[in-house]
Amino acid sequence: MNTKYLYINTIGCQMNVYDSEQIAKVLKPLRYRKTSFLEMANLIIVNTCTIREKAEQKVFSFLGRLAGLKRKKPDLIIGVGGCVAQQEGGKILERVPYVDLVFGTNAIGRLPVIIERIETKKCRVVDVEMSGQIEELDFGADESHDGKVASFVTIMQGCDNYCTYCVVPYVRGRETSRDPEIIVNEIRCLVESGVREVTLLGQNVNSYGKKEGLCTFPELLALINEIDGLLRIRFTTSHPKDLSEDLMLAFKDLDKLCNHIHLPVQSGSNKILKRMNRKYTRGLYLEKVDKLLNICPDIAITSDIIVGFPGETRDDFEETLDLIKKVEYDSLFAFKYSDRPNATAARFPDKISEQEKKERLQQVLDLQDHFTTRKNKEQEGSTQLILVEGFSKKQSVIDIQNRYQDVQWTGRTSTNKIVNFIQGDDTVFCNEIATGQMLNVEIVKAFPHSLWGKPVGVEPTSLGLRGEESYVA
Ligand code: SAH
Ligand code: SF4
Ligand code: F3S
Repeated sequence: MNTKYLYINTIGCQMNVYDSEQIAKVLKPLRYRKTSFLEMANLIIVNTCTIREKAEQKVFSFLGRLAGLKRKKPDLIIGVGGCVAQQEGGKILERVPYVDLVFGTNAIGRLPVIIERIETKKCRVVDVEMSGQIEELDFGADESHDGKVASFVTIMQGCDNYCTYCVVPYVRGRETSRDPEIIVNEIRCLVESGVREVTLLGQNVNSYGKKEGLCTFPELLALINEIDGLLRIRFTTSHPKDLSEDLMLAFKDLDKLCNHIHLPVQSGSNKILKRMNRKYTRGLYLEKVDKLLNICPDIAITSDIIVGFPGETRDDFEETLDLIKKVEYDSLFAFKYSDRPNATAARFPDKISEQEKKERLQQVLDLQDHFTTRKNKEQEGSTQLILVEGFSKKQSVIDIQNRYQDVQWTGRTSTNKIVNFIQGDDTVFCNEIATGQMLNVEIVKAFPHSLWGKPVGVEPTSLGLRGEESYVA
């Protein structure tokens, strides 16, 4: 039987990136191999997101582009998965007549059976069943792991917090933590496949294991810290209300845990935080940030902000700007509030105009640019330990073949800042540079969203195992 090709378009959060990898893995026994060429595909899957209106629009505009392809290739199977699929279910089949399959956030384990049915019976299928435990998919080490050194690992699904603006509890279901043993085994397999850094994913990792009586999140981190060959651990997202002292101490005590926390505040106004159902006050948030900085003075802190939440007055917004100035975040994601289906805030009065939201968003971005630039500038002249992730995106294949000296590499500091660099010709050790290696770089220049570095030495403890990408000068 011939190989078939699978094209996955992933829209949305890191959890969707992880899920897309699981989709590719479950479909391997059906002889589907991933392709990055849409025209080659026998099966196209859009893994969707509905967190904001814009994300949902992206899904339908991508599906629109597939109409012509389906006409040319009637056997092409088109599937819509993820959060929009969970939210809209069968309505997607009505709206887009050439979609063959709609599958929800709990259906990945059932995909092989569904796809086989569509292949043989040429039927259309909707599976948005949410009940019951999410199936654990056990794959073992993956030889074809795309040569990546950094990987996501979902440690918990769903969310029980019901922030009033948020759709996640409705499309991802109740909060459920995965077993620590399964997580540790999965990470061991990833390490065997060449992964050196994992980012643990959950909507609120701080409450990991509480419901099921498993270990706590800091205990899970300690277990993962023991995995041989793993060099770095990151996690996201940390809900401020549950940020414990034990987790703060983990940053100090666990050598592999990176020096960065994403701690979304959403708003600096107590009135708005209450309406958002965030369950912390501005004061409590600032207290936690202070405590964290006392324990780890150089930790990088990033955040999410929503502007124009219903009822947000100019004064409320000023309090958000003031909080940003007080914390001095390393970077920020800022969003204009948008109504989401089922989310309580969609029914709140006092909606803010699009124009006002646009202006507030710009003000947040301008203010944050100032801090991001300053923090990046402060790095100039320092030496940073980075994990080399490979060639920088800008690097074309032709360049790589023709101009070894100019090949641009990329990696990240422990504080999650991107550092680009070239080999240079004055350093002997440079012919050892390899993806997956820890490298000391001197920061020569700061740009708005990245740093430029000069390699000054390979970290002796690092493993640099990826021979095929290592440098032969
Ligand atoms: N679990 C994470 C958030 C995940 S959603 C947490 O609790 O922090 C990612 C971000 O999208 C949120 O932090 C929020 O800033 C933004 N967001 C969620 N719903 C939104 C909406 N309806 N409008 C605008 N931004 C939204
Ligand atoms: Fe959404 Fe709030 Fe849950 Fe985050 S904690 S996923 S914002 S409901
Ligand atoms: Fe989007 Fe679903 Fe993630 S709504 S942000 S893909 S959990």
